[in-house]
Amino acid sequence: METLTPRQIVAELDKYIIGQNKAKRMVAIALRNRWRRRQVPEDLRDEIAPKNIIMIGPTGVGKTEIARRLAKLAESPFLKVEASKFTEVGYVGRDVESMIRDLMEIGINMVKEEQYEALRPKAEELAEERILDILLPVRQPRKLRRSQLQSSSKENDEEIDVAQRTREKFRRLLRNGKLDDREVEIETQVSSLPVVEIFSPGGTEEMDINIKDMMSSFFPGKTKRRRVKVPDALRTLVQEELSRLLDNEKVIKTAKGRVEQTGIVFVDELDKIASAHASSHGPDISREGVQRDLLPIIEGSNVNTKHGVVKTDHILFIAAGAFHVSKPSDLIPEIQGRFPLRAELSALTRNDFVRILTEPKNALVKQYQELLKTENLTLEFTSEAIEEMAILAEEVNERAENIGARRLHTIMEKLLEEISFDAPDMGCVEITITPEMVSERLSDIVKSDDLSRYIL
Ligand SMILES: Nc1ncnc2c1ncn2[C@@H]1O[C@H](COP(=O)(O)OP(=O)(O)OP(=O)(O)O)[C@@H](O)[C@H]1O
Ligand SMILES: [Mg+2]
Repeated sequence: METLTPRQIVAELDKYIIGQNKAKRMVAIALRNRWRRRQVPEDLRDEIAPKNIIMIGPTGVGKTEIARRLAKLAESPFLKVEASKFTEVGYVGRDVESMIRDLMEIGINMVKEEQYEALRPKAEELAEERILDILLPVRQPRKLRRSQLQSSSKENDEEIDVAQRTREKFRRLLRNGKLDDREVEIETQVSSLPVVEIFSPGGTEEMDINIKDMMSSFFPGKTKRRRVKVPDALRTLVQEELSRLLDNEKVIKTAKGRVEQTGIVFVDELDKIASAHASSHGPDISREGVQRDLLPIIEGSNVNTKHGVVKTDHILFIAAGAFHVSKPSDLIPEIQGRFPLRAELSALTRNDFVRILTEPKNALVKQYQELLKTENLTLEFTSEAIEEMAILAEEVNERAENIGARRLHTIMEKLLEEISFDAPDMGCVEITITPEMVSERLSDIVKSDDLSRYIL
């Protein structure tokens, strides 16, 4: 990801999100800056803080979508959270520091996956040997070799040769899947952790840190012998060898470095913790509390996780919110200052809707075509029909609530309701949606305010 240029990042985002160029450019620059920072001489590197971003825009215009696509692109630990899920420290609920703990967990899993990938060939080799040991219990060349030291008679040599050859034969059978129906007995670890539920004020995650680890050292894993088919045995043994080969300390160290240097936290629904001036009593106080708790994390502080202390100085924060009730200026000033970059996403127009319906890789029209293809139904839309749907979407958005591109989902569902229902009974057919069909099915509803308020 970080070797992608801003232009390339925007091009990737363009595959899924229509328009919103300003926001795309801004996140692209922010990502590129992380890579730039790491090329800078070391003494200056620590001084360069990430420039956090707020994306502002009405509902359904692609804020969360940008974050989601960015996450898929990013090869760095990426966490998406909803600001409204957190509560002030001291109250029941998730405290904001848990986002860093979660990010670290994501980092660990990421590094683990990579390590597993690298270790897999070795683990597969070891697992194969172990299966062969089980299949050929008596004449293990390894054991024979030891006795060979004492008496290296010719007989013995021959015996070894035979054993070796048998083993290779079995190896070939194994690799060709000829032994897949055989059953073997393997020993597997069963976790003997007693099932207990513990309620702590911090929820289950605090228990995660302390008690679970403690418990597992009290109750060491028991082993259990099981008879399983060869492929299953192989899979289990590979897994076992993998966890044996994995250097946990190295994983944690790498993950910590990666989280601290390249981690990204996407804070969605930031507006939900901003309090509009009108009501600055009651629950709002707690919202401000959350904001205040956020400050040190965004500014850079040390957060305790079960894998050690994580410094948050260089973690990038991207926030998003509709901000139609509250304004960014309703956030406490310190938070405002920590998000110097603002990207405004624009409301979507008829033209955007046409493109959203057809262009993205996961475009709605494509989705429905594929869904109905499973019923042997070929669905086509004329471009005028698409245009008509876009017009209707815009119209309803203007008259009722503007819910952006989400309106297209409701329109599409309504339009295809009958076809979706009847499709299995129709047999193999081809249906082309024309603008007449669109207006026939939808215009009555759109024209009537009352109906569209409920149905679309
Ligand atoms: N610009 C766009 N291009 C393509 N699809 C879009 C665009 N904007 C929205 N969509 C589609 O609309 C749906 C809702 O978008 P998204 O979740 O990004 O909204 P949002 O801006 O986060 O809104 P909210 O403020 O309600 O959270 C998604 O399924 C997305 O695919
Ligand atoms: Mg959203």
